[in-house]
Amino acid sequence: MARNLTQTHALFEKAKQFMPYGVNSNFRYWGDEHTMVITRGEGAHIWDPDGNRYIDYRLAFGPVILGHGYRPVVERVAEVIQDGTLFAWTIPLEIQVAERILRMTDMDKVRLGNTGTEVTMHALRIARAYTGRERFIKFEGQYHGMHDYVLFSTASAPASAFGSRRNPINVQSSSGIPEGIRQYVINLPFNDLERLEETVEARWHELAAIFVEPMLGNAAGILPRPGWLEKLRELCDHYNIVLIFDEVKTGFRIAPGGAQEYFGVKADLATYAKAMGNGFPIGAIAGTQEVMGIIEGGGVSHGGTYTGNAVGVAAADATLEILETQPIIESINERGRELMDGIDEILGKADIPHCMTGLPPMFSFILGTDEEPADFRDYCAGDGGLYERLAMALIDRGVMPDSDGREPWFLCYSHGEQEIAETLTAFEEAVKDAKR
Ligand SMILES: Cc1ncc(COP(=O)(O)O)c(C=O)c1O
Repeated sequence: MARNLTQTHALFEKAKQFMPYGVNSNFRYWGDEHTMVITRGEGAHIWDPDGNRYIDYRLAFGPVILGHGYRPVVERVAEVIQDGTLFAWTIPLEIQVAERILRMTDMDKVRLGNTGTEVTMHALRIARAYTGRERFIKFEGQYHGMHDYVLFSTASAPASAFGSRRNPINVQSSSGIPEGIRQYVINLPFNDLERLEETVEARWHELAAIFVEPMLGNAAGILPRPGWLEKLRELCDHYNIVLIFDEVKTGFRIAPGGAQEYFGVKADLATYAKAMGNGFPIGAIAGTQEVMGIIEGGGVSHGGTYTGNAVGVAAADATLEILETQPIIESINERGRELMDGIDEILGKADIPHCMTGLPPMFSFILGTDEEPADFRDYCAGDGGLYERLAMALIDRGVMPDSDGREPWFLCYSHGEQEIAETLTAFEEAVKDAKR
Protein backbone atom coordinates (compact mmCIF):
# COMPACT_ATOMS: atom_id res chain seq x y z
CA MET A 1 0.00 0.00 0.00
CA ALA A 2 1.45 3.33 -0.93
CA ARG A 3 0.36 6.53 0.74
CA ASN A 4 0.64 9.79 -1.12
CA LEU A 5 3.36 11.69 0.77
CA THR A 6 4.17 14.40 -1.77
CA GLN A 7 3.55 17.37 0.53
CA THR A 8 5.15 15.62 3.50
CA HIS A 9 8.37 14.99 1.59
CA ALA A 10 8.44 18.54 0.18
CA LEU A 11 8.12 20.04 3.67
CA PHE A 12 10.75 17.69 5.07
CA GLU A 13 13.19 18.64 2.28
CA LYS A 14 12.65 22.28 3.24
CA ALA A 15 13.10 21.52 6.95
CA LYS A 16 16.49 19.94 6.18
CA GLN A 17 17.70 23.25 4.81
CA PHE A 18 17.25 24.87 8.21
CA MET A 19 17.58 22.20 10.91
CA PRO A 20 20.10 19.34 11.25
CA TYR A 21 18.30 16.22 9.92
CA GLY A 22 15.27 18.48 9.40
CA VAL A 23 14.05 17.95 12.97
CA ASN A 24 14.36 19.46 16.44
CA SER A 25 15.05 16.16 18.21
CA ASN A 26 17.20 13.33 16.84
CA PHE A 27 14.54 10.80 17.87
CA ARG A 28 12.20 12.22 15.22
CA TYR A 29 14.54 11.49 12.30
CA TRP A 30 13.62 8.16 10.70
CA GLY A 31 15.74 8.62 7.57
CA ASP A 32 15.00 10.71 4.52
CA GLU A 33 12.20 8.48 3.29
CA HIS A 34 10.25 7.91 6.49
CA THR A 35 10.54 11.09 8.58
CA MET A 36 7.07 12.52 9.05
CA VAL A 37 5.64 16.01 9.23
CA ILE A 38 2.34 16.37 11.09
CA THR A 39 -0.09 19.23 10.65
CA ARG A 40 -2.87 18.47 13.10
CA GLY A 41 -4.05 16.22 15.91
CA GLU A 42 -7.47 15.61 17.40
CA GLY A 43 -8.28 12.99 20.02
CA ALA A 44 -6.48 9.77 19.09
CA HIS A 45 -5.77 10.88 15.52
CA ILE A 46 -3.07 12.85 13.73
CA TRP A 47 -2.87 14.01 10.10
CA ASP A 48 0.06 14.60 7.78
CA PRO A 49 0.23 17.43 5.21
CA ASP A 50 -1.11 15.09 2.51
CA GLY A 51 -4.28 14.48 4.49
CA ASN A 52 -3.40 10.92 5.56
CA ARG A 53 -4.93 10.14 8.95
CA TYR A 54 -3.25 7.94 11.57
CA ILE A 55 -4.42 6.44 14.86
CA ASP A 56 -1.60 7.68 17.04
CA TYR A 57 0.08 5.30 19.51
CA ARG A 58 3.28 7.33 19.87
CA LEU A 59 1.38 10.21 21.48
CA ALA A 60 4.54 12.33 21.33
CA PHE A 61 6.44 9.61 23.29
CA GLY A 62 3.79 9.47 25.97
CA PRO A 63 2.61 12.89 27.15
CA VAL A 64 -0.79 12.91 25.46
CA ILE A 65 -2.83 11.04 28.07
CA LEU A 66 -6.28 12.47 27.30
CA GLY A 67 -6.08 13.09 23.56
CA HIS A 68 -4.65 15.60 21.10
CA GLY A 69 -6.13 19.09 21.48
CA TYR A 70 -8.26 17.89 24.42
CA ARG A 71 -10.73 20.75 24.89
CA PRO A 72 -10.86 21.11 28.69
CA VAL A 73 -7.05 21.38 28.82
CA VAL A 74 -6.71 23.73 25.84
CA GLU A 75 -9.50 25.93 27.18
CA ARG A 76 -7.97 26.15 30.68
CA VAL A 77 -4.62 27.18 29.17
CA ALA A 78 -6.25 29.73 26.84
CA GLU A 79 -8.17 31.25 29.74
CA VAL A 80 -5.25 31.44 32.17
CA ILE A 81 -2.70 32.96 29.76
CA GLN A 82 -4.96 35.94 29.03
CA ASP A 83 -3.62 37.32 32.31
CA GLY A 84 0.07 36.87 31.43
CA THR A 85 2.36 33.89 31.48
CA LEU A 86 5.43 34.66 33.59
CA PHE A 87 6.14 36.97 36.51
CA ALA A 88 9.15 35.52 38.37
CA TRP A 89 6.74 35.26 41.30
CA THR A 90 4.50 32.47 42.40
CA ILE A 91 1.00 32.38 40.89
CA PRO A 92 -1.91 30.93 42.89
CA LEU A 93 -2.40 28.16 40.32
CA GLU A 94 1.13 26.85 41.07
CA ILE A 95 0.11 26.32 44.67
CA GLN A 96 -3.02 24.46 43.61
CA VAL A 97 -1.06 22.23 41.21
CA ALA A 98 1.66 21.54 43.80
CA GLU A 99 -0.98 20.53 46.35
CA ARG A 100 -2.66 18.19 43.85
CA ILE A 101 0.64 16.55 42.78
CA LEU A 102 1.49 15.85 46.41
CA ARG A 103 -1.95 14.42 47.10
CA MET A 104 -1.78 12.16 44.03
CA THR A 105 1.81 11.00 44.56
CA ASP A 106 1.76 10.87 48.36
CA MET A 107 4.94 12.97 48.55
CA ASP A 108 5.71 15.89 50.90
CA LYS A 109 7.23 18.63 48.76
CA VAL A 110 7.49 19.40 45.06
CA ARG A 111 9.31 21.77 42.71
CA LEU A 112 8.12 22.34 39.14
CA GLY A 113 10.17 22.28 35.95
CA ASN A 114 9.47 22.13 32.23
CA THR A 115 10.89 18.88 30.85
CA GLY A 116 11.94 15.42 31.94
CA THR A 117 15.61 16.21 31.33
CA GLU A 118 15.44 19.25 33.54
CA VAL A 119 13.82 17.48 36.49
CA THR A 120 16.07 14.40 36.38
CA MET A 121 19.12 16.67 36.33
CA HIS A 122 17.89 18.52 39.41
CA ALA A 123 16.87 15.33 41.19
CA LEU A 124 20.40 14.02 40.85
CA ARG A 125 21.82 17.24 42.28
CA ILE A 126 19.40 17.16 45.21
CA ALA A 127 20.38 13.55 45.96
CA ARG A 128 24.08 14.42 45.84
CA ALA A 129 23.58 17.44 48.06
CA TYR A 130 21.57 15.39 50.54
CA THR A 131 24.06 12.51 50.81
CA GLY A 132 27.34 14.33 50.14
CA ARG A 133 28.20 11.51 47.71
CA GLU A 134 28.76 11.76 43.96
CA ARG A 135 28.17 8.48 42.15
CA PHE A 136 24.88 6.82 41.28
CA ILE A 137 23.52 3.56 39.91
CA LYS A 138 21.25 3.44 36.89
CA PHE A 139 20.15 0.47 34.80
CA GLU A 140 20.98 -0.59 31.25
CA GLY A 141 18.39 0.43 28.69
CA GLN A 142 17.06 3.24 30.87
CA TYR A 143 16.88 6.78 29.58
CA HIS A 144 16.72 9.72 31.94
CA GLY A 145 17.03 12.59 29.47
CA MET A 146 19.67 14.52 27.61
CA HIS A 147 22.06 15.74 30.31
CA ASP A 148 25.61 14.39 30.36
CA TYR A 149 25.50 12.40 33.61
CA VAL A 150 22.78 10.01 32.44
CA LEU A 151 23.64 9.52 28.75
CA PHE A 152 25.26 6.14 29.29
CA SER A 153 24.03 2.63 28.46
CA THR A 154 20.69 3.89 27.19
CA ALA A 155 18.63 1.70 24.87
CA SER A 156 20.37 3.15 21.80
CA ALA A 157 23.43 0.88 22.19
CA PRO A 158 23.49 -2.79 21.12
CA ALA A 159 23.63 -5.33 23.97
CA SER A 160 27.03 -6.54 22.74
CA ALA A 161 28.53 -3.18 23.74
CA PHE A 162 27.56 -3.61 27.40
CA GLY A 163 30.21 -6.23 28.20
CA SER A 164 29.67 -9.10 30.60
CA ARG A 165 27.03 -9.05 33.32
CA ARG A 166 29.76 -9.37 35.92
CA ASN A 167 31.56 -6.30 34.64
CA PRO A 168 29.13 -4.10 32.70
CA ILE A 169 30.66 -1.38 30.54
CA ASN A 170 29.30 2.17 30.63
CA VAL A 171 28.42 2.80 26.98
CA GLN A 172 28.46 6.52 26.18
CA SER A 173 25.40 7.48 24.10
CA SER A 174 26.80 10.66 22.53
CA SER A 175 29.95 12.46 21.53
CA GLY A 176 30.61 15.67 23.38
CA ILE A 177 30.46 14.30 26.93
CA PRO A 178 33.61 15.03 28.95
CA GLU A 179 35.63 11.87 29.60
CA GLY A 180 35.56 12.29 33.38
CA ILE A 181 31.77 12.15 33.57
CA ARG A 182 31.66 8.39 33.06
CA GLN A 183 33.21 7.75 36.48
CA TYR A 184 30.04 9.01 38.19
CA VAL A 185 27.63 6.45 36.77
CA ILE A 186 27.42 2.72 37.40
CA ASN A 187 25.16 0.85 34.95
CA LEU A 188 23.76 -2.52 35.97
CA PRO A 189 21.32 -4.94 34.32
CA PHE A 190 17.71 -4.35 35.49
CA ASN A 191 16.16 -7.05 37.71
CA ASP A 192 19.56 -8.58 38.57
CA LEU A 193 19.38 -8.82 42.37
CA GLU A 194 22.74 -10.46 42.83
CA ARG A 195 24.66 -7.86 40.83
CA LEU A 196 22.80 -5.05 42.55
CA GLU A 197 23.44 -6.26 46.08
CA GLU A 198 27.07 -6.97 45.36
CA THR A 199 27.60 -3.49 43.90
CA VAL A 200 25.77 -1.60 46.64
CA GLU A 201 27.52 -3.53 49.40
CA ALA A 202 30.92 -2.76 47.88
CA ARG A 203 30.33 0.87 46.94
CA TRP A 204 27.53 2.31 49.11
CA HIS A 205 29.79 4.96 50.61
CA GLU A 206 30.16 6.53 47.13
CA LEU A 207 26.49 6.28 46.14
CA ALA A 208 24.21 9.30 46.24
CA ALA A 209 21.33 7.66 44.41
CA ILE A 210 19.83 4.68 42.73
CA PHE A 211 18.06 6.15 39.71
CA VAL A 212 15.46 3.83 38.27
CA GLU A 213 12.63 3.82 35.76
CA PRO A 214 10.35 1.50 37.78
CA MET A 215 9.51 -0.28 34.52
CA LEU A 216 11.69 0.04 31.42
CA GLY A 217 9.73 2.77 29.65
CA ASN A 218 12.45 3.09 27.03
CA ALA A 219 12.97 -0.63 26.50
CA ALA A 220 9.58 -2.14 25.66
CA GLY A 221 8.12 -1.50 29.12
CA ILE A 222 9.93 -4.48 30.68
CA LEU A 223 8.46 -4.94 34.16
CA PRO A 224 10.22 -5.21 37.50
CA ARG A 225 10.32 -8.79 38.81
CA PRO A 226 8.52 -9.37 42.13
CA GLY A 227 10.73 -8.10 44.93
CA TRP A 228 13.03 -6.00 42.72
CA LEU A 229 11.73 -2.54 43.61
CA GLU A 230 11.34 -3.64 47.24
CA LYS A 231 15.02 -4.64 47.27
CA LEU A 232 16.01 -1.23 45.92
CA ARG A 233 14.02 0.37 48.75
CA GLU A 234 15.61 -1.89 51.34
CA LEU A 235 19.17 -1.25 50.15
CA CYS A 236 18.61 2.51 49.95
CA ASP A 237 17.20 2.55 53.49
CA HIS A 238 20.05 0.48 54.83
CA TYR A 239 22.86 2.51 53.21
CA ASN A 240 21.20 5.93 53.26
CA ILE A 241 21.09 6.19 49.46
CA VAL A 242 18.39 8.30 47.78
CA LEU A 243 15.97 6.16 45.78
CA ILE A 244 14.85 8.16 42.74
CA PHE A 245 11.96 6.86 40.65
CA ASP A 246 12.10 8.38 37.19
CA GLU A 247 8.38 8.52 36.50
CA VAL A 248 8.62 10.75 33.43
CA LYS A 249 6.82 8.04 31.46
CA THR A 250 4.94 6.13 34.18
CA GLY A 251 3.81 9.13 36.25
CA PHE A 252 0.06 9.88 36.10
CA ARG A 253 -0.19 7.17 33.43
CA ILE A 254 -0.02 3.66 34.90
CA ALA A 255 -1.99 4.82 37.97
CA PRO A 256 -3.04 8.26 39.27
CA GLY A 257 -0.11 7.99 41.70
CA GLY A 258 2.20 6.51 39.04
CA ALA A 259 4.57 3.61 39.62
CA GLN A 260 4.81 4.25 43.35
CA GLU A 261 1.09 3.53 43.64
CA TYR A 262 1.03 0.76 41.03
CA PHE A 263 3.94 -1.24 42.44
CA GLY A 264 3.40 -0.23 46.06
CA VAL A 265 6.96 0.98 46.68
CA LYS A 266 7.82 4.48 47.90
CA ALA A 267 10.72 6.48 46.50
CA ASP A 268 12.57 9.34 48.20
CA LEU A 269 12.36 11.46 45.05
CA ALA A 270 10.25 11.02 41.94
CA THR A 271 10.52 12.90 38.66
CA TYR A 272 7.48 13.62 36.49
CA ALA A 273 6.79 15.33 33.16
CA LYS A 274 4.96 13.95 30.10
CA ALA A 275 1.42 12.89 31.11
CA MET A 276 1.02 15.61 33.72
CA GLY A 277 0.44 18.26 31.03
CA ASN A 278 -1.25 16.32 28.20
CA GLY A 279 1.38 17.62 25.77
CA PHE A 280 2.17 21.02 27.31
CA PRO A 281 5.69 21.47 28.71
CA ILE A 282 5.69 20.84 32.45
CA GLY A 283 7.70 18.67 34.84
CA ALA A 284 8.09 18.12 38.56
CA ILE A 285 10.41 16.70 41.22
CA ALA A 286 8.47 15.47 44.23
CA GLY A 287 10.00 13.99 47.33
CA THR A 288 10.05 13.48 51.03
CA GLN A 289 10.36 16.43 53.38
CA GLU A 290 13.70 15.01 54.50
CA VAL A 291 15.33 14.99 51.04
CA MET A 292 13.56 17.97 49.41
CA GLY A 293 14.23 19.93 52.60
CA ILE A 294 17.91 20.16 51.58
CA ILE A 295 16.90 22.96 49.17
CA GLU A 296 15.76 25.12 52.08
CA GLY A 297 19.22 25.14 53.63
CA GLY A 298 20.10 27.56 50.82
CA GLY A 299 23.08 25.69 49.47
CA VAL A 300 21.38 23.76 46.68
CA SER A 301 20.62 25.48 43.40
CA HIS A 302 17.25 24.84 41.89
CA GLY A 303 15.51 27.32 39.65
CA GLY A 304 14.81 28.50 36.14
CA THR A 305 13.19 31.42 34.39
CA TYR A 306 10.31 29.29 33.13
CA THR A 307 9.69 27.00 36.11
CA GLY A 308 6.07 27.39 37.18
CA ASN A 309 5.07 29.33 34.03
CA ALA A 310 1.35 29.76 33.59
CA VAL A 311 1.13 27.78 30.32
CA GLY A 312 2.44 24.50 31.73
CA VAL A 313 0.85 25.05 35.12
CA ALA A 314 -2.61 25.67 33.63
CA ALA A 315 -2.25 22.53 31.50
CA ALA A 316 -1.21 20.49 34.55
CA ASP A 317 -4.04 21.97 36.59
CA ALA A 318 -6.65 20.83 34.06
CA THR A 319 -5.01 17.48 33.21
CA LEU A 320 -4.37 16.39 36.79
CA GLU A 321 -7.82 17.49 37.93
CA ILE A 322 -9.33 15.22 35.27
CA LEU A 323 -6.99 12.33 36.08
CA GLU A 324 -7.64 12.64 39.80
CA THR A 325 -11.40 12.97 39.70
CA GLN A 326 -12.51 10.81 36.75
CA PRO A 327 -11.93 7.11 35.99
CA ILE A 328 -9.69 7.96 33.03
CA ILE A 329 -6.85 5.57 33.78
CA GLU A 330 -9.33 2.70 34.31
CA SER A 331 -10.73 3.36 30.86
CA ILE A 332 -7.23 3.56 29.31
CA ASN A 333 -6.38 0.28 31.01
CA GLU A 334 -9.46 -1.41 29.60
CA ARG A 335 -8.79 -0.31 26.02
CA GLY A 336 -5.09 -1.07 26.32
CA ARG A 337 -5.87 -4.56 27.60
CA GLU A 338 -8.22 -5.19 24.63
CA LEU A 339 -5.49 -4.07 22.26
CA MET A 340 -2.76 -6.13 23.94
CA ASP A 341 -4.97 -9.24 23.94
CA GLY A 342 -5.93 -8.72 20.29
CA ILE A 343 -2.31 -8.31 19.21
CA ASP A 344 -1.27 -11.33 21.24
CA GLU A 345 -3.96 -13.43 19.55
CA ILE A 346 -3.10 -12.27 16.02
CA LEU A 347 0.62 -12.93 16.50
CA GLY A 348 -0.20 -16.36 17.97
CA LYS A 349 -2.42 -17.29 15.03
CA ALA A 350 0.32 -16.18 12.65
CA ASP A 351 2.78 -18.50 14.41
CA ILE A 352 5.14 -15.67 15.26
CA PRO A 353 6.98 -16.35 18.55
CA HIS A 354 6.42 -13.26 20.68
CA CYS A 355 6.17 -11.92 24.18
CA MET A 356 3.86 -9.09 25.26
CA THR A 357 5.61 -6.60 27.56
CA GLY A 358 4.63 -3.66 29.77
CA LEU A 359 1.20 -2.58 31.02
CA PRO A 360 -1.94 -1.64 29.07
CA PRO A 361 -1.35 2.16 29.20
CA MET A 362 2.21 1.64 27.83
CA PHE A 363 3.02 -1.75 26.35
CA SER A 364 5.10 -3.32 23.63
CA PHE A 365 5.97 -6.78 22.38
CA ILE A 366 9.09 -8.60 21.40
CA LEU A 367 9.08 -10.74 18.26
CA GLY A 368 11.11 -13.83 17.47
CA THR A 369 11.22 -15.10 21.06
CA ASP A 370 8.62 -16.05 23.63
CA GLU A 371 10.93 -15.71 26.63
CA GLU A 372 9.83 -13.02 29.04
CA PRO A 373 12.62 -10.43 29.15
CA ALA A 374 14.12 -9.36 32.46
CA ASP A 375 16.39 -6.63 31.15
CA PHE A 376 17.57 -4.77 28.08
CA ARG A 377 20.03 -7.52 27.17
CA ASP A 378 17.08 -9.91 26.86
CA TYR A 379 15.16 -7.39 24.77
CA CYS A 380 18.00 -7.39 22.24
CA ALA A 381 17.49 -11.11 21.60
CA GLY A 382 14.25 -10.26 19.75
CA ASP A 383 13.80 -9.68 16.03
CA GLY A 384 13.92 -5.87 15.75
CA GLY A 385 13.91 -6.04 11.94
CA LEU A 386 10.58 -7.89 11.86
CA TYR A 387 9.12 -5.44 14.39
CA GLU A 388 10.14 -2.50 12.21
CA ARG A 389 8.64 -4.07 9.06
CA LEU A 390 5.41 -4.68 10.94
CA ALA A 391 5.32 -1.12 12.30
CA MET A 392 5.95 0.37 8.86
CA ALA A 393 3.17 -1.80 7.37
CA LEU A 394 0.86 -0.49 10.10
CA ILE A 395 1.80 3.11 9.42
CA ASP A 396 0.98 2.55 5.74
CA ARG A 397 -2.47 1.45 6.94
CA GLY A 398 -3.06 4.49 9.14
CA VAL A 399 -1.96 3.11 12.52
CA MET A 400 1.11 4.74 14.00
CA PRO A 401 3.16 3.03 16.69
CA ASP A 402 6.86 3.86 16.86
CA SER A 403 8.89 1.93 14.31
CA ASP A 404 11.09 0.72 17.16
CA GLY A 405 9.72 -1.77 19.69
CA ARG A 406 11.78 -0.23 22.48
CA GLU A 407 9.34 2.67 22.45
CA PRO A 408 6.03 1.51 23.97
CA TRP A 409 2.60 1.84 22.41
CA PHE A 410 0.92 4.58 24.42
CA LEU A 411 -2.82 4.67 24.98
CA CYS A 412 -4.89 7.76 25.69
CA TYR A 413 -8.47 8.37 26.85
CA SER A 414 -9.49 9.23 23.28
CA HIS A 415 -8.68 5.75 21.95
CA GLY A 416 -12.20 4.34 21.81
CA GLU A 417 -13.59 0.96 20.83
CA GLN A 418 -13.65 1.94 17.19
CA GLU A 419 -9.95 2.89 17.13
CA ILE A 420 -9.01 -0.39 18.81
CA ALA A 421 -11.10 -2.40 16.31
CA GLU A 422 -9.59 -0.50 13.36
CA THR A 423 -6.11 -1.05 14.76
CA LEU A 424 -6.60 -4.79 15.11
CA THR A 425 -7.93 -5.10 11.57
CA ALA A 426 -4.89 -3.21 10.27
CA PHE A 427 -2.63 -5.33 12.48
CA GLU A 428 -3.90 -8.56 10.99
CA GLU A 429 -3.14 -7.32 7.47
CA ALA A 430 0.20 -5.79 8.45
CA VAL A 431 1.37 -9.10 9.94
CA LYS A 432 0.83 -10.79 6.58
CA ASP A 433 2.86 -8.08 4.85
CA ALA A 434 5.67 -8.15 7.39
CA LYS A 435 6.03 -11.94 7.20
CA ARG A 436 6.54 -11.87 3.44
C1 LIG B 1 12.08 7.99 31.75
C2 LIG B 1 12.44 9.29 31.09
N1 LIG B 1 13.11 10.23 31.78
C3 LIG B 1 13.44 11.41 31.25
C4 LIG B 1 13.11 11.71 29.94
C5 LIG B 1 13.48 13.03 29.35
O1 LIG B 1 12.34 13.80 29.20
P1 LIG B 1 12.32 15.04 28.19
O2 LIG B 1 12.36 14.47 26.81
O3 LIG B 1 11.04 15.75 28.50
O4 LIG B 1 13.50 15.88 28.50
C6 LIG B 1 12.42 10.76 29.18
C7 LIG B 1 12.05 11.04 27.79
O5 LIG B 1 11.55 10.22 27.06
C8 LIG B 1 12.08 9.52 29.76
O6 LIG B 1 11.43 8.57 29.08
